[in-house]
Amino acid sequence: MLRKFSFLTTLTTIGIIQSSLALSTQLQQNGDFFLPNQESTQNGFLQIESSQKVTQVSDSWSATRRSSLSVSDDVPQIVSLSSWMTDLKKNPKISQLKINQITIPGAHHAGLTYLLPFFELIEAIFGKLGLKDIYDSKPKEFISYLINSILVPHVYSVEEILQQGGRYLDLRISQDLDDPNEIYLSHCFLSKIRLNDSLAIVNKFLQANPGEIIILDIPVDYDPFGTVGNPVPHQEIDAQIRQNIDSKFILTRDNISQPISTYGGVYFTNFEQNSTLSQIKIKAGWAITQDADPQQVVKNIKNYYESDQYLKQDPIDFDMLKCDPYVTASTDSAIETLVYETLFESQPLPLDPLISSKVIPANLKSSAKLSNPLFYDTVYRSDKLLNIVNIVEMDLFDAENAIRAIELNFYRYF
Ligand SMILES: *[C@@H]1O[C@H](CO)[C@@H](O)[C@H](O)[C@H]1NC(C)=O
Ligand SMILES: *[C@@H]1O[C@H](CO)[C@@H](O)[C@H](O)[C@H]1NC(C)=O
Ligand SMILES: *[C@@H]1O[C@H](CO)[C@@H](O)[C@H](O)[C@H]1NC(C)=O
Repeated sequence: MLRKFSFLTTLTTIGIIQSSLALSTQLQQNGDFFLPNQESTQNGFLQIESSQKVTQVSDSWSATRRSSLSVSDDVPQIVSLSSWMTDLKKNPKISQLKINQITIPGAHHAGLTYLLPFFELIEAIFGKLGLKDIYDSKPKEFISYLINSILVPHVYSVEEILQQGGRYLDLRISQDLDDPNEIYLSHCFLSKIRLNDSLAIVNKFLQANPGEIIILDIPVDYDPFGTVGNPVPHQEIDAQIRQNIDSKFILTRDNISQPISTYGGVYFTNFEQNSTLSQIKIKAGWAITQDADPQQVVKNIKNYYESDQYLKQDPIDFDMLKCDPYVTASTDSAIETLVYETLFESQPLPLDPLISSKVIPANLKSSAKLSNPLFYDTVYRSDKLLNIVNIVEMDLFDAENAIRAIELNFYRYF
């Protein structure tokens, strides 16, 4: 058994936590927490870690030195997170497996790193939550910060998620109210991150890494509070895919039964109506396992698999299984979070994820700092989960958590 190797993850954890803390402190001090315009950001994360630099660094690494994810020789040697599946597929024990027999790191609301405020809807939301006082008394920038804290789950773009190993991307989209040709990533509110650009990034990534297998889940953004954009007609999603993704990369439902070593490309799911693409079916436990508390979500996922509840849930003819170890805010947890963040407006938020999950439970990024490690530790300890977990849909996607998901394949097969 390879369970000893998680010390590697621990080392990565320390490095990543330190740098992200330094970063969030820096961004907060600059009063520049969201990056409405990525190009023009002076001190923004995206500029510090420009994707081109990342690619150059990883290319020169693999050219000069063979690095790998594991220290053991009989385990697949993974050279970079951009090509981990290609590397994994070279191993004879893995090559004959199907895509639903390996664990795949994924991102919930992938690439959504900011939302633009739309104050009419924000006012309505605060009104509904009984927080009109806060809305009326605080500067608009701060109100926008609050809304971003409960709706934005990531610091990395679609491109950065792919480079760090993410292969399932949940792209929530809405159509601009004024211009139906503009389709943006969204969650209640719109970003300015376009669907067509995101698809072009996936295509470019596949050109560079044709052995990788990506799953794009493109649901209609729906939120109980209301959504600023319009639903996107599925024909329009199809059209943008055909325009931006090379047809040789488009996979069909038939490819699911083929060994992963025989192909690369992208599967699509979740916009079946009127679509001309052959889409896969994913069974997601979210409706059963979701909770506002990170510890409870993970407990629910454990129970969902260990009790075989997942077998009874529709669809029965699923192609892939997905679990969702992130919080879903309740009205109470959203109110608590907004109130606490307002009370501590000028002070740093708690950095301890055990504390922040109690006081700001609906802050998606803070809560994911607890739900992600809890989830992986739970899987490591359960043979049942270890053998079933397929897609892991995370908030706060990063390389460390991608590594944890990829490592599950080693624990499972070696
Ligand atoms: C996406 O659409 C916008 C206009 O809506 C255009 O400016 C941009 O170039 C398009 N991106 C790609 C990759 O075609
Ligand atoms: C499917 O097409 C019909 C007819 O054009 C349209 O009314 C409906 O809204 C479409 N559904 C979706 C989800 O695109
Ligand atoms: C996907 O499956 C279809 C039907 O079996 C096949 O024609 C196609 O070549 C496969 N695609 C890839 C990339 O293997």
